[in-house]
Amino acid sequence: MNAKIIGMGHYAPQKVYTNTDMEKFVETNDEWIVQRTGIKQRHIAADDEFTTDLATKAAQKALENAGIGAEELDLIILATVTPDYFTPSCSCVVQKNINAKNAAAFDINAACSGFVTGTVIAKQFIETGLYKRVMVIGADALSKATDYTDRSTCILFGDAAGAVIYGASEENGVMSIDIGANGADGDKLTSLAYRYDEEEINMRLSKNPNHIRMAGSEVMNFAVRAMTKAAQRVCKEKGFTINDVDVIIPHQANIRIIESAAKLLKVDMNKIFTNLEFYGNTSSASVPVAMCEAVEQGVLKRGDKFIIVGFGGGLTWGAALIEY
Ligand code: COA
Repeated sequence: MNAKIIGMGHYAPQKVYTNTDMEKFVETNDEWIVQRTGIKQRHIAADDEFTTDLATKAAQKALENAGIGAEELDLIILATVTPDYFTPSCSCVVQKNINAKNAAAFDINAACSGFVTGTVIAKQFIETGLYKRVMVIGADALSKATDYTDRSTCILFGDAAGAVIYGASEENGVMSIDIGANGADGDKLTSLAYRYDEEEINMRLSKNPNHIRMAGSEVMNFAVRAMTKAAQRVCKEKGFTINDVDVIIPHQANIRIIESAAKLLKVDMNKIFTNLEFYGNTSSASVPVAMCEAVEQGVLKRGDKFIIVGFGGGLTWGAALIEY
């Protein structure tokens, strides 16, 4: 059996920070942000709105889209780096909220590669025959972990959630995958939990250990290489070239990363779906939100072959070649 997409849903909070709003927090301007990142606005969770609130709404929409009941789910995998609690996991909170009483549930942390990694796990559970319906959610409220005094990061991040339900099918679904990590460069993108690391804390302007710190240009170089190689590998595994693929849906971090990877892959930007202009970088939510919008806009159609590819903290990467 293959893991076939049977439903999708996404959600982003109502509040929006435009580039002009960002000028209130840090010395920046719309022109710099658009030229260097492609981002024009980002959605921001309300003070009383958290990752599981976004995830629950995306999950409900995915169930509706699939036309199945929550009790039909066998497993919920939720990828996040901004959990409401360490325990219960966000996936357990969502399981309760949607009343998916027959589903197992666990969270994973692979930062911006989280949703693709969740998809890889879902594929294994379905292909072994253990489960028939697996929901993978990418959800992050990065605004809660953003240092709004650091202009090199705060302009990038936003909040959202996306959910995809994979069902067992004899038709093609998730066809090939590639995941990997380079822990040696993990210090290029950090957010602290329990470990007390004074040097790390002091590298933040805010001195808040939970805030994200990033060596932007180093992460960017990694991202371009990781996106290019992972996309090539998932094609090669199936004997495809990139020209056999209809759409590429990358992690929406920075338009310059995507354009550089497109050049290396020798693909036209028309083949690459982007919506980072409207959301910024929403970490694990970015790929499933983009998948939903690609379908809504008629860019991704049933029968199309497409690649999802993520890269980010860890450092990690992941890609999957999927037939929709
Ligand atoms: N507004 C105006 N100027 C800014 C700015 C802002 N928001 N942020 C940084 N700058 C300044 C810097 O201070 C620096 O000034 P200096 O030359 O006087 O020191 C200058 O712009 C260039 O900074 P640099 O960091 O070299 O720019 P960059 O081209 O690398 O772009 C990022 C910065 C953060 C946009 C870019 O590195 C990036 O997007 N990196 C990857 C981020 C990412 O995708 N991370 C997540 C992966 S999942």
